Amino acid sequence: MNFTFRQLKTFEAVARQLSFTRAAEELFLTQPAVSMQVRQLEDNIGLPLFEHLGRRIDLTHAGLVLHGFVQRINEVVAEADEVLEGMKGLRRGLLRISVASTANHFATRLLADFARQYPDVSISLDVTNRETLIRQLENNETDMVIMGEPPRDMDLEAEAFMKNPLVAIAPPEHPLADKTSISLARLARERFVLREQGSGTRDAIARFFEQHGQELKTGLEMSSNEAIKHAVEAGLGLGIVSLHTLELELEAARITVLNAEGFPIMRNWYMVHRRGKRDTPVTKAFHDYVLAEASQHVRLPQAHMSTDT
Ligand code: PGA
Repeated sequence: MNFTFRQLKTFEAVARQLSFTRAAEELFLTQPAVSMQVRQLEDNIGLPLFEHLGRRIDLTHAGLVLHGFVQRINEVVAEADEVLEGMKGLRRGLLRISVASTANHFATRLLADFARQYPDVSISLDVTNRETLIRQLENNETDMVIMGEPPRDMDLEAEAFMKNPLVAIAPPEHPLADKTSISLARLARERFVLREQGSGTRDAIARFFEQHGQELKTGLEMSSNEAIKHAVEAGLGLGIVSLHTLELELEAARITVLNAEGFPIMRNWYMVHRRGKRDTPVTKAFHDYVLAEASQHVRLPQAHMSTDT
């Protein structure tokens, strides 16, 4: 069979759009040029690829079969392109990173250090909630995700790279603020300001209270760590947040970390990507950088309490 890559490309556009006019627009060709290429392809193959139903066109059986093959050819060509681009090294790469909202407190710093080492890499950072992170992984829309709870029911590779202690916080004038040891039962009598449903932090807190047979009293729900810290400062309730989010508040003594039984709730940060996703030199460099450097570059604020971090 004697057809060209160009004819296949034109055929694919018509088959996908089911319109010669729209395919011509997409390919910046005239409509007669598109029709001619499709006709030549049909002549070469010896079978009709489209049938005309009034003003509509549809794929014939042969057209459908060929469309499946052309889609596979396109995937292989895109992969070849990616691999060959990769061989040019780190010069022109793009890194797409998505992080959970809490991780944003250190991710930008990490990316800034990485960007200094690899100045020609373009970086796109998306800060979003857990549900969106999972959807992005499903749809292959991101190279790497930084999150606290990799979902167990997906085929992913997840590596823990840094501790993520969750601490209980109160305003400095709160009656529990200067206690050296607060039982969990006493803490559970307080009202808490919590993150929204779907937040990894919130899931971990709910699990912790349940495991210890305590009920978590809440009523106030907020969709960002910043809002929670403001609410706690304003005396609306106690909070439980990642120690990573508290740098400024602890420095300015606007918030106190409580010495509560079972705290900090010790979690990990994970770097997550789809199993089998091909590494480019850029994603590999970022992956190795985070594993080697994250704990050195990201300092946890001093919380004036005993943690084993
Ligand atoms: P989040 O953080 O609470 O901002 O979703 C992610 C996590 O800790 O799992």
